[in-house]
Amino acid sequence: MADTYILAIETSCDETAAAVVRSGEQIVSNVVSSQIATHQPYGGVVPELASREHLRAIVPVVRKALSDAGHTYESISALAVTQGPGLAGALLVGISYVKALAFALDKPLIAVNHLEGHIHAVLLEERQKGNHEVTFPVLALVVSGGHTHLYLASQKGEGWSYQNIGHTRDDAAGEAFDKVAKLLGLGYPGGPIIDKLSLHGDPNAVKFPPSQIKNRDRRERNQPEEDRQRFDFSYSGIKTAVLRYVETHGLQSSIEERRRALSPEKPTLEDYLASCDRQTLNLIASFQRAMAEDLVSKTLSAARAYDVATLFVAGGVAANHELRQRFEREAAMEGLPVFFPSPPLSTDNAAMIAAAAYPKFLASDFAPADFSAEAGLALKGIA
Ligand code: KG4
Ligand code: ZN
Repeated sequence: MADTYILAIETSCDETAAAVVRSGEQIVSNVVSSQIATHQPYGGVVPELASREHLRAIVPVVRKALSDAGHTYESISALAVTQGPGLAGALLVGISYVKALAFALDKPLIAVNHLEGHIHAVLLEERQKGNHEVTFPVLALVVSGGHTHLYLASQKGEGWSYQNIGHTRDDAAGEAFDKVAKLLGLGYPGGPIIDKLSLHGDPNAVKFPPSQIKNRDRRERNQPEEDRQRFDFSYSGIKTAVLRYVETHGLQSSIEERRRALSPEKPTLEDYLASCDRQTLNLIASFQRAMAEDLVSKTLSAARAYDVATLFVAGGVAANHELRQRFEREAAMEGLPVFFPSPPLSTDNAAMIAAAAYPKFLASDFAPADFSAEAGLALKGIA
């Protein structure tokens, strides 16, 4: 079969991204324009600013993805775009732009679920390394700023289908990293800096109680009994525990000082280290340890309960070094292969969207002309 070149666009949150991927297995170009500097002063993503920045960046980002790939609008086989979940206004920028392109070029257009994209980032990189075999059933943990979801993934012909067997009841894991970083005056996004600072603290210094999931999930009620075993997460408790620690140990004034010292210049790791005392570094390392322990132990319990053969860990938080090490160590003890995307493909990008679009291209599963953004789009069965 002839090579298929898919140009994909991703604008679901705070990265404007475009990429060209060949036949779902080779990244030909991958351009990501980050809006971190825009949102940093607010300590989180501001939806209206995100849409405005996507509008600014989309044309140059798409042009660069094509020129890096040595392609033109005419030479690509199909277009793909993230339909959701994400910020509605941000998604609409990518969708409106790609719809106009598809219409003008008369090319097929594929709508992709962002979470499916994260899962396909793993598959794309494995194929790129020459590993075309995945043993099913696969359990995928998608762990990002907006999601902490467990999916059983299976392949039916060219298509993929997904069953959700767990999700966070409150904050996503990445959101907890971001909120704790904001609370400690470390800026935004929190994950990468907490990851680096954790190496300098004692992860056993502060004990956090394990998360308690008390209420039954309302979504379970109408499901058949055999589908009910769920592995949900909860991360608002640990965020509150960090806040309580800050209050009871009188850390507020040093946090204010750090906030002033670290803004508005772009701080280096040395700047961060100079602004954090031992107690704070221990708190940070202990927080990360508790997060990694919880994510790994719940995912491995789910893997055992559903007797899966392979584990995928994807999404921004999958870039975390302690999470990766712990997954590798503990999954190996159970004889379970675990795959992660490389750190650049863990966070939002469009190569993963092009990769997820490829099986849909083969199945001629194209988007209808009237499709639109779906901020809360669920990931389910794919025909
Ligand atoms: O997948 P992603 O780029 O965007 C969403 O779909 O949300 O994930 C971004 C999230 C942020 O919460 C960020 O703090 C977190 O991933 N993150 C990390 C690391 N790198 C990014 N969390 C922990 N450790 C990291 N190294
Ligand atoms: Zn994402």
